This record gives sequence, C-alpha cells and structure tokens, in this order.
Amino acid sequence: MMRDMSDPIVWIHGFPHAKEIFDAQRAIAGVEHVLVDLPGFGATPAREGITIDGYAEAVLEELDRRGIQRATFAGLSMGGYVCFAMLRVGRERVAGLILIDTKETPDSDEARKGRYAMIEKVQQEGTAPVVESLLPKMLTANAPDDVRRRVHEIMSAQPAEGVIAALKAMAERPDSSPLLPSIDVPVLIVVGGEDAVTPPSDAQRMGSAIPKSKVVTITGAAHLPNVERPDELNAAVQNHLK
Ligand code: MLT
Repeated sequence: MMRDMSDPIVWIHGFPHAKEIFDAQRAIAGVEHVLVDLPGFGATPAREGITIDGYAEAVLEELDRRGIQRATFAGLSMGGYVCFAMLRVGRERVAGLILIDTKETPDSDEARKGRYAMIEKVQQEGTAPVVESLLPKMLTANAPDDVRRRVHEIMSAQPAEGVIAALKAMAERPDSSPLLPSIDVPVLIVVGGEDAVTPPSDAQRMGSAIPKSKVVTITGAAHLPNVERPDELNAAVQNHLK
C-alpha cells in the first residue's frame, strides 16, 4: 500500500526507554508522527542476538506494515545509532534525520567492558541497578519530580531480555563516522546543554562532518531534552520542517 502524504517523522527511542518517551513530540503540528518500540522494549517482543542494524530492519518492517515508504527518522541516543544503521540498511527510505543526544562513534574498549559487566548484573539482579545508575544522567538536577518519576517509570518497565540484547547490540555496533560526509538529506542535530552522556562536543563534531546539518543546543536539559524541555525541542523540529 502506498500513501500520498508528506513524509512522517518516525521517533526511535533510546536505552532503556520505549515509545512513550516521545509523547510530548506528538504536539508538533503539520506532520504525522510514528512512535515505535524497538524489539525487546515496550510492546515489541525481544529478538535474541539482535544488532543495531537489526533494530533498523525491525523499524522498516513496521513501516512496511503501515505502508510508509519514506520518513524522517528521529533517534535519541541508542535511537540515533539506529538512525545511522538506517543509512546502511535502507538509505533510500531516509528523507531526513533528527539526531538527538547521540553520537556516531562506536564504544571504546572500556565502555564495551562496562556493557558486558552490566549484562551480568542484569542477569543476576534484574534491571533495577541499570535504571538507578542511568536515571541521574538522563535529567538535570533541576528536573521536576513528576518528570523524574515518569522517566523512572518508563525505564523500570523495560524487560530484562530486551535490556540485555540492547546492551550487547550497542557494545558491538560499528563505527558510523565514515557515513557522515555522504549524508545528503537534511539533518537536525539536537543536544541538551548539560548532557554528560553524549555532550555538546559530540553534536558539534557530527555537525562539522554532515554537509546539510544544523546543530541546536537546548539549555536546561541533559540527555532527554524531549522530556525536560519539550517546547524547545518541538520548536527546533518545527523550524527544521519549514
Ligand atoms: C541511550 O540513552 O540510549 C544510551 O545512553 C546510549 C548508550 O548507552 O550508548
């Protein structure tokens, strides 16, 4: 089934989140929003041995089911890794990219080791230790309690099987740096000014390497500007769509 409509935005969540993390982005007017749960998160069953490129293939399968041929892909952090994977597995379907608090580089040896240590911890103790260690990095110290509670709730709801598979997929993801100079679609890069996970320097580096890109830094946000500063993030996207 083909549709005669402008390209939708497909929102791809980070780790360990699910599609609700983008609920506030539904307010961006004039465009269709498609929120997806990657395999192993939210309502989508896990796939053992999935890779980052495998997540991109799963998103494309979902778009096939919905009759969507091309889209702007918006990915946050791990979702951004999936956006780069989309350029490897379905480049002709990419009308544009919105890269939020993410980076193109692979894990360092130390980061990879940390992922495998975390996998062991989840196998022994469940996902709670991962949630507790990551939550403080998601939001600034000033985030309101209800926002913090909501993010905690989303993170705590993700099943161990999906969390383990994602840790392995991220640890083994390829370097996407070689792709950047050849990206020929419009790219918006957004970063929280206080993000320590993927700091503004990552965004600037990607912006220098991607030809048709613009970098927007959102002050008063850390790793989740879509949640902590939704109006500013939505305005940046709205401007980009113009
Ligand atoms: C995320 O928010 O998706 C994660 O911080 C990504 C990562 O661990 O590399």
